[in-house]
Amino acid sequence: MLIRIVKASAVRSSEITPKALYLDRRRFITGAGAIAGSLATGTRMAHAALAPPPGVNTRLSPITEGYRKLGDKDELSSYKAVTGYNNFYEFGTDKSDPAENAHTLTTKPWTVKVDGLCAKPGTLDLDDFLKSYPLEERIYRHRCVEGWSMVFPWVGFSLGDVVKRFEPLGSAKYVQFETLLRPSEMPGQRSSLILPWPYVEGLRLDEAMNPLATLAVGLYGEVLPNQNGAPIRLVLPWKYGFKSIKSIVRVTFTETQPKNTWQVYAPSEYGFYSNVNPTVDHPRWSQATERRIGEFLRRKTLMFNGYAEEVGQLYTGMDLVQNF
Ligand code: MTE
Repeated sequence: MLIRIVKASAVRSSEITPKALYLDRRRFITGAGAIAGSLATGTRMAHAALAPPPGVNTRLSPITEGYRKLGDKDELSSYKAVTGYNNFYEFGTDKSDPAENAHTLTTKPWTVKVDGLCAKPGTLDLDDFLKSYPLEERIYRHRCVEGWSMVFPWVGFSLGDVVKRFEPLGSAKYVQFETLLRPSEMPGQRSSLILPWPYVEGLRLDEAMNPLATLAVGLYGEVLPNQNGAPIRLVLPWKYGFKSIKSIVRVTFTETQPKNTWQVYAPSEYGFYSNVNPTVDHPRWSQATERRIGEFLRRKTLMFNGYAEEVGQLYTGMDLVQNF
């Protein structure tokens, strides 16, 4: 199931930074505290600015190497940016709100209910459940519908492997995900004017089975910070970020297409598929370019966020404009 980088052409000059990360990741895994001696001091210092400060969160291990494909100019976004510039409306609507407020969320114990059209429904304790899935590091581009983007290493596993375990029935065509509803710990949920709660997302079953679709439990080698969707969230790098639902407590197999939160909130602006597409503008702004956080100039947005080779076949024959 794992896609590995095989083509030299797919891994370009930008590999310099991921390599530093890879070496540093070995430090996370071994806990030895020593970075491989061959790293140039400059690179090490540059990377130190990207990575989490020591002891910020619990390190995850072991982590094997998963999917990563970077473009010419992709460099890793800093841990500070990834964990300080967020969308998580349950904790407020400003980009800094989740980092400031999400400490109130209790993530242990955590259960996920699996129901709907599947042969093996149930309620899972997350800690037990995670033991059966080897963790992988996957470096993906992350593109928000608002026009900003980042690149960083997630830690997680294939959503498809999890889906299979519950044995969806032949009638199951979609899978719906739901975020925790706990207004006592999620202040944004105390107002129904912000969004309809709980936050809901959905995928077609074959999209969920695509090897790029990830359930993430960490980033930068460490346990997922609350503001990034702890303890478990979706990551769908070919879709706009709002599809990547955070803090999941329920997974439901359905025959009909689920309605996702943003679609319900503003149907003329947000759709079900929401694949990154530079040729289809948002009604209020262009999607042709994006601002990579930490950079000054805007860059061109890529079709399917650069993952057309991996996911394009899912949409053969579909009108991607109609099906935004
Ligand atoms: N999930 C929930 N439950 N609530 C949210 O507000 N925001 C979405 C998505 N998942 C959101 C969510 C949006 S708009 C984006 S761009 C990404 O999370 C942001 O993920 P990040 O903060 O880790 O970058």
